[in-house]
Amino acid sequence: MISATPSVFDASLSRSGGAGIDAFVDRHAPNVDYTYYGAGKVALRDGLDGLVEPGENVLVPAYLSPAVVEPFCDLGLEPRFYAIEETLAPDFADLESRIDDDTVAVMSVNYFGFPQPGLERLASLTNEYDCYHIDDNAHGPISVADGTLLGTHGDLGFTTLRKLLPVPDGAILYRVADEAKATFSPSPLAGSADRIAATDCRFVTTSAAETALGPLYQSIESMLDDGADDPSSVDPGARYEATKAPMSKLTAMVTDAADPDTIRAARRENYRTWQQVLADREDITMFYERLPEGISPYEFPVRARDSDAFLAALHDCGVVGAHTWPILRESVFEADGYDTATRLSQEVVTLPVHQGIEPTAIETAGKRLQQ
Ligand SMILES: Cc1ncc(COP(=O)(O)O)c(C=O)c1O
Repeated sequence: MISATPSVFDASLSRSGGAGIDAFVDRHAPNVDYTYYGAGKVALRDGLDGLVEPGENVLVPAYLSPAVVEPFCDLGLEPRFYAIEETLAPDFADLESRIDDDTVAVMSVNYFGFPQPGLERLASLTNEYDCYHIDDNAHGPISVADGTLLGTHGDLGFTTLRKLLPVPDGAILYRVADEAKATFSPSPLAGSADRIAATDCRFVTTSAAETALGPLYQSIESMLDDGADDPSSVDPGARYEATKAPMSKLTAMVTDAADPDTIRAARRENYRTWQQVLADREDITMFYERLPEGISPYEFPVRARDSDAFLAALHDCGVVGAHTWPILRESVFEADGYDTATRLSQEVVTLPVHQGIEPTAIETAGKRLQQ
């Protein structure tokens, strides 16, 4: 079975010298200030708080999970969605048309662990209009592109540890610009808990059950599921409020013990293995043919002609962790001007590449897919 997330029992957690997320960030972003949080959205809220005034607006890509703009609403800011191209680059004409005197920031998103195409042009645009550039790097905590740690482009950024490690929560806020450093005032939600909580124990137990029961666990989970995958059941505001807690002690411990280089190498190998096993399929197109040095892929994204059929085929071959991405915010889905984001949200299927998967499992799934 190929699951969506790694297990807390993975071997890629080690205590070898120089390991740990701190050491990795210190090595790749020595001049950046950073703070741990329970969630990227809360990190974003705290990072922006000293830089903005209620009534201002922030531009974000339309191709985005629904709860990501909640921190802006929390700060009294208006989120404005800009259209994107098929390559996931901003549609710059659309983006620029939405900027006005009250635009305080523009956010880019490094999808699936790769830098968003057009980052340089976006940086010069934010300079020209004198607004902040937020680098949303939720997907790629240890991705480094051309020597820059993703999440540290722009004035401030953040990353989500849950997308990399077998942890219940966790994020890092990066403060790059002097102004972002100077105005930062951590709320009580900054930092990590100093004790193991009941939720930590529950996470480990669940992880153990998942490891032991495999596919059976997945079917029990879906039987008990309250419909979280059903778009109508997603309440972005409630999701955001639920993440307002410091990072758990369990995440702090795993973050400290993780070996980023080993994890990145394993994810890259799995990415390449998917590339090989899916190369001949005519019903899908790969998003990124190249896997540049330094990139730690979050998932292996493809565009499928019929995403339901492809997902069903994957499921039959034991790949239970694949899914379409993302569920769009209601105001964006099928709305005028957001055709590309809407189409991509229906066609993009992401396959897991996490470090808990052996490349041979992907090869086996690939062979079954061909039959
Ligand atoms: C692109 C993107 N940005 C931000 C977030 C929010 O991160 P967090 O869940 O850590 O708040 C997500 C979460 O799924 C995301 O996909």
